[in-house]
Amino acid sequence: MKELQEKILKEGTALNETVLKVDGFLNHQVDPLLMQKIGEEFANYFEDRGITKVFTIESSGIAPAVMAIKLDVPMVILKKQQSKILNGEVYQTKVTSFTKGTSYELTLSKKYIDKDDKILLIDDFLANGEAAQGGIRLIEEAGATVSGIGIVIEKSFQPGRKKLDDRGFDVYSLARISRLAEGVIEFVEEA
Ligand code: G4P
Repeated sequence: MKELQEKILKEGTALNETVLKVDGFLNHQVDPLLMQKIGEEFANYFEDRGITKVFTIESSGIAPAVMAIKLDVPMVILKKQQSKILNGEVYQTKVTSFTKGTSYELTLSKKYIDKDDKILLIDDFLANGEAAQGGIRLIEEAGATVSGIGIVIEKSFQPGRKKLDDRGFDVYSLARISRLAEGVIEFVEEA
């Protein structure tokens, strides 16, 4: 998505070879008009899949996910809990973040998923794929289907994309970054 690439080049900062700061429009302050266009792009791409729910992971996935308004389905936020909840009302799975060096229990209330659901999972970053795979585990545990994965910024040089491709998921990333270095941001050349 050209407008997103331009925004990343203009306002993003590559801190080093692995981390891209985009606090000014995605992770801290949010650009609502850009989010609207991002949501539209996801909705257009996935509109023929019979999506029944959009899932995202708190917190930075929420803005782009809620903007997939055109799909006209509920949006569910997968919560990050510090510890296990010991009752039968939730699905939980442990996710470890390589980038942040932390772990959490990704949590979904059983009330908000059904085995017939066809789910579009949207997140802000795809790096190592741990968060996305945690979301997929919860959806599959409920017997529902992952019908697509929408990513705002993919760091294609990290293993997440390949892991999801290898499992046959349809991943649509709006910006694919091939290389980062201090002051350098390069995108994958799309064929
Ligand atoms: P993974 O889920 O793909 O394995 O990624 P990883 O665990 O490595 O990333 C953990 C957190 O760091 C995620 O945010 C992810 O969005 C974020 N992240 C990863 N790489 C970058 C990057 O280059 N730039 C920025 N800005 N964020 C990155 P989170 O902890 O879930 O936080 P949030 O959604 O509350 O913002």
